[in-house]
Amino acid sequence: MKSGRGDAPSFPPGFLWGAATSAYQVEGSPLADGGGESNWRRFARVSGRVRDAAAVDRACDHYRRWPEDVRLMQALGLNAYRFSVAWARVLPAGTGAVNAAGLDFYERLVDALLAAGIAPCLTLYHWDHPAALDERGGWLNPDSAEWFARYAEVVYAALGDRVALWATLNEPWVVMDAGYLHGTHAPGHRDRAEAPRAAHNLLRAHGAGITALRAAGARNLGIVLNLEPKHPASGSPADRAAAARADAYMNGFFLDALLTGDYPEELPALFGRDWPDFPAADLRRIRQPLDWIGVNYYTRAVVRHDPGAGHLAAATVPQRDALCTETGWEVYPPGLGAVLDRVWRAARPVPVYITENGAAFADPPPAADGRLADPLRVDYLRAHLREVRAALARGVDLRGYFVWSLLDNLEWAEGLGKRFGIVHVDHESQRRTIKASGRFYAERIRAGGDP
Ligand code: FCB
Repeated sequence: MKSGRGDAPSFPPGFLWGAATSAYQVEGSPLADGGGESNWRRFARVSGRVRDAAAVDRACDHYRRWPEDVRLMQALGLNAYRFSVAWARVLPAGTGAVNAAGLDFYERLVDALLAAGIAPCLTLYHWDHPAALDERGGWLNPDSAEWFARYAEVVYAALGDRVALWATLNEPWVVMDAGYLHGTHAPGHRDRAEAPRAAHNLLRAHGAGITALRAAGARNLGIVLNLEPKHPASGSPADRAAAARADAYMNGFFLDALLTGDYPEELPALFGRDWPDFPAADLRRIRQPLDWIGVNYYTRAVVRHDPGAGHLAAATVPQRDALCTETGWEVYPPGLGAVLDRVWRAARPVPVYITENGAAFADPPPAADGRLADPLRVDYLRAHLREVRAALARGVDLRGYFVWSLLDNLEWAEGLGKRFGIVHVDHESQRRTIKASGRFYAERIRAGGDP
């Protein structure tokens, strides 16, 4: 292995340097060529809880501008791209008839990526699914695991020979918490009894998807989780217990089910009578061998005991003196090292990828010379890449890093205002401009990751 500064090992050969996006956030043209309506398009149209809802059908127009976007990835020197497939393009009603034109779009994209020397890393479910499935109960319907497994088979049959990494789900915790408990994401439900059921069915879908993909001959199968250290606001037993509850709810929920085949013992107490007696056989099927595990890392939370703060009785304490991003998330690079260590301890020898890491800041528009200075994002990336190197030096089998995001895109309910891209997008003209952070990242990649 080439060595970096001092005696710290640098990035291993074959390390994936990527950027990530998701279908709903960048593609636009959701109904083109026979696509069905998605849960998110419907949620944006009817709920009144999505900013810039009028932009949903356009997003970054990636559905039409993908050749330019692949060229951008090449210009940045990426050797991997993480994207997701819109289930409703492929199976407009969720189950049943396949829309070949929808699959064709991803075939063209994957072929262009391969021709550009960029490994296609595909996520099957990044939160958008056919609205028709919500009419059948969405993730509350126990059949959803089967729907997902059949969808996975259809995508694998078309692309299986060309995709480098397969992820079943992106961040099931967010689907549960924002979609079913707090109602800020599709489908917009606010029901404490639904949350554990939706999470359990998402995990069942993951298990059924992995089983179906393996039976079809697939390799390199994993899942993407968002993990966040929960630090107690004080050393008091009450605050420590609050942090432990918050951790069990967000991190342990999925890590434990996937890696140990059980839910954290705190969860039944947290949900009380809303926690169903889940069958042991389900948990056995959820705990499938994984070929890799993906970590999305953005921030940490400092937590204190607060009996009035929902089912967790835990409140997040704002860190007033810390730098926060436009989404209000504290910039806390050491948390990345901590979650990598935790996942590696729990999952080893399964290798780990950082499947998302990045920040929204209020960038200026591109200057007259075509440059765009985003120093806070450059600092964010630099500090987090330092954590990546340190984790490698500690022996974490880390195989890749994906910036969130390639493009300024639709940030779910927040709309267009939160810019996460290393490439600026003018949402009127759809013009793309590589930001200083994009240039910084490209330089790092050229240097093999080392500063
Ligand atoms: C993650 C999502 C991704 C993006 C970032 C900012 O939770 O996976 O789609 O919205 O946050």
